[in-house]
Amino acid sequence: PHQTLVFAVNGERFELSELDPSTTLLEFLRSQTSFKSVKLGCGEGGCGACLVLLSKYDPVQDKVDDFTVSSCLTLLCSVNGCSITTAEGVGNSKDGFHPIQERFSGFHASQRGYCTPGMCVSLYSALINADKTDRTGLRPGFSKLTVSEAEKSIAGNLCRCTGYRPLVDACKSFAA
Ligand code: FES
Repeated sequence: PHQTLVFAVNGERFELSELDPSTTLLEFLRSQTSFKSVKLGCGEGGCGACLVLLSKYDPVQDKVDDFTVSSCLTLLCSVNGCSITTAEGVGNSKDGFHPIQERFSGFHASQRGYCTPGMCVSLYSALINADKTDRTGLRPGFSKLTVSEAEKSIAGNLCRCTGYRPLVDACKSFAA
């Protein structure tokens, strides 16, 4: 039967009925949308330049799971029903920048900038999931990361300018 793929990127709805099943989410984002912060680095899941946040409803647990995926390895046809967030969805010049972006800037954490959107998404995912921990009462009080969580949040992102120190400092500024 003919099926339509429905998903959202940064709140924008996409509905596709014809697509090459081998198309990756990265190829789609780069060629069919304006969300070009997502970058092709290694193309094989090793660098994090293409990371996006995937939000997916889990009907068994009746909750939404938010996690990062390498869009270079994610087939577009696997994101049916999902909501995808790129760095543009975290914050932008029109709707206002997110504190992550402001602090990356304030800490001079972005050099060439190629890896920065992926780092932004990684830290955003860590913050969102820390917030969820708060809501379940496991970490009462404030929705902050531990120092270790903040450091590890960008563990899957490579920076070829090797400017990790200001990036880690910017991430740690969100730690309790
Ligand atoms: Fe390197 Fe996707 S491009 S992980």
